[in-house]
Amino acid sequence: MPDTFPGTGHKYLADFQTSKVILSFTSDTSLTTTVLNSDGSAAGNETVVIKTENIAPDVYLVTWVESDNTTVVHIEDYSRNTIISNITTPAPKFSFNQFHGTFQPVEADAPSTLTYSGDIRPLFRDMDIACMGPRGKHLDDAAWMCTPANAQRVFNAVSAHRMPPDTPWPPERVALFKQWIDQGLKP
Ligand code: HEM
Repeated sequence: MPDTFPGTGHKYLADFQTSKVILSFTSDTSLTTTVLNSDGSAAGNETVVIKTENIAPDVYLVTWVESDNTTVVHIEDYSRNTIISNITTPAPKFSFNQFHGTFQPVEADAPSTLTYSGDIRPLFRDMDIACMGPRGKHLDDAAWMCTPANAQRVFNAVSAHRMPPDTPWPPERVALFKQWIDQGLKP
């Protein structure tokens, strides 16, 4: 039986000497990374869909693809609190970099719970609602969307990039939707 990923629900400061990054694992599959400037202010953040795999006692492989197709492979050791980050940026500016660092838990903010009305409803365009309503997918109806089987169907369609047919959702938007599901489909 693989161990459950210990990062879930926790926030860490990863220190790679040349750079510091906040890693906030908001669910089993969702991570928000915040790169910090040298003065500790946030330089930018991104929410990604992660895969985690237990590869040795307390050691996890954590991987993801960012919106610009940069791939990141972490080896995170939760007993020694060490981290190796392997980052490959795509062509034409192809680069491969490896960083060794340490990570420590930081006090997490009060968990903000995503809601359908505040976070999910705004993701749908008038055109999405108009196309899908007659097909029985009521993207603008909180009661329909907050039903687990319906939310799962919508997730399957957007995560597989089947829907919307014209412009697939970027990974961070799919990750947000998944986070809303994982947090219990709050209206
Ligand atoms: C975020 C926006 C959208 C979501 C979440 C969504 C969701 C879905 C879902 C869950 C299905 C059921 C089949 C499946 O799971 O693949 C479906 C089917 C379908 N949708 Fe959408 N849809 C979206 C946007 C649109 C738009 C804008 C159009 C029209 C331009 C459209 C046209 C269709 C059609 C024709 C089908 C039936 C054919 C098929 O299964 O591929 N959808 N959609």
